[in-house]
Amino acid sequence: MRRELLDLIFCPACMVGSLVVEQATEQEIAYRQGSVSEIVDGRVACRQCAARFPIEEYVLSFSDRLESSVRADGAFWGAFYSQHYNQGFKGFMDTTEEPVPFLTQGVPTSIPFDGDEWAGIHVDLAQHRWVRRGGRAVDVGVGAGWSSLFLARHGFDVIAFEPALELTKLAKRHAVSTGVFIEYLCADMANFRMRPESVDLVFALHSLHHIPDIDDAVREIHRMLRVGGCLALDDHLQDSIVQGVLRDGLIREADASIFPAYRNEQAALALPSHHSENEGVGMGQVLQTVEKYLYVDDVRYRHICFDILGPIAYLKFNRSKEALTYTTEMVDFIYKAMRRSLPDMVEYMTLVAQKREQLPDSPVFSPPPLDRASADMEQSKIYEQELIRLHAIVAEKNAHIQRIERLLERIENGRAMRILRILSR
Ligand SMILES: C[S@@+](CC[C@H](N)C(=O)[O-])C[C@H]1O[C@@H](n2cnc3c(N)ncnc32)[C@H](O)[C@@H]1O
Ligand SMILES: [Zn+2]
Repeated sequence: MRRELLDLIFCPACMVGSLVVEQATEQEIAYRQGSVSEIVDGRVACRQCAARFPIEEYVLSFSDRLESSVRADGAFWGAFYSQHYNQGFKGFMDTTEEPVPFLTQGVPTSIPFDGDEWAGIHVDLAQHRWVRRGGRAVDVGVGAGWSSLFLARHGFDVIAFEPALELTKLAKRHAVSTGVFIEYLCADMANFRMRPESVDLVFALHSLHHIPDIDDAVREIHRMLRVGGCLALDDHLQDSIVQGVLRDGLIREADASIFPAYRNEQAALALPSHHSENEGVGMGQVLQTVEKYLYVDDVRYRHICFDILGPIAYLKFNRSKEALTYTTEMVDFIYKAMRRSLPDMVEYMTLVAQKREQLPDSPVFSPPPLDRASADMEQSKIYEQELIRLHAIVAEKNAHIQRIERLLERIENGRAMRILRILSR
């Protein structure tokens, strides 16, 4: 921990006091960004309320303040990422390392990528036209820290936080070993208070939907951003039952026919059978809340059910790079078609939202695509009204036709009578 961090944050206990160092063992570390003096171990105290917090292995920790539901969520992800790390897989902490997508299924095979580091949404977000390169970035709920490392490598001054203490220590250790300075804290959103207008970019990848009080979280993000600063996020928008079933089906199929050739039982992760109660607590509220505080110019929605097909094809065809590339391209193609035909079934969203002096009068993007049931209900109401309107028109036309028929009949009768009269003369 750099001492300067304390000029930027407030005490999480009273939210107003500043923290001062009480005890410290310090060390000068040579990073790529230059030499930094850091506190390895020590303690800070609040000037206002006298609360004390430890610094362990470079990490300032508010771990004691976490609510049990947040702690449980951190424990799940802590187990997930650290078991990868313990097996020597660092794809979740470093974009220059290959990902191992099927370790949960006991397959310890990594998937190659082109170039120096894996590409993805994080690159587009960091390069968005509103994002100031080299500014101060806060990374929210970072897991094992791959996005923080990515941002720091690309010139941002990064403060990253995550409620799983072991992960923040792990991520910090890795960052130190690769010579990249990142400030890691153990905290959750409710216990992280930056000085107002002190941040250029808030990065939040798949973390906001884990936060119980999403309104408080986005209000705080808004407060810490300078005007013109941005929140860049990728998050779970909603669950699609159909996509969930497809994804499970693919995994089950691969588990039976493809994974056995690669499986190593000892490699399988030992995770709780269920996610924590906070998995998805904020889902469905993130977009509305972001639009309440920030200006959103574009939201990209995504389907994700076939994301695993490329890696599955790679294994199926005996670790074929060609199969991986080809299938990934086909999956992109299918996603394009799905966006056309099943737009309300998207599961993820990516957006950049800016802090502005003024917001539009009403939200532009929220409410997000609803679950199919209610979207269909709306649509069927419109169809029903249209049907009633068409029925009325048809009834009116029918009545008109009947009138004309009767008229014709009378004319016909009249003509027949005249002919009869002529004949009878
Ligand atoms: C799906 S993981 C994503 C991690 C990482 N951003 C990534 O993309 O790999 C969600 C993360 O959010 C963290 N988290 C849970 N509750 C949180 C909270 N209230 N505030 C901040 N982060 C939280 C979890 O511990 C977990 O690491
Ligand atoms: Zn305090």
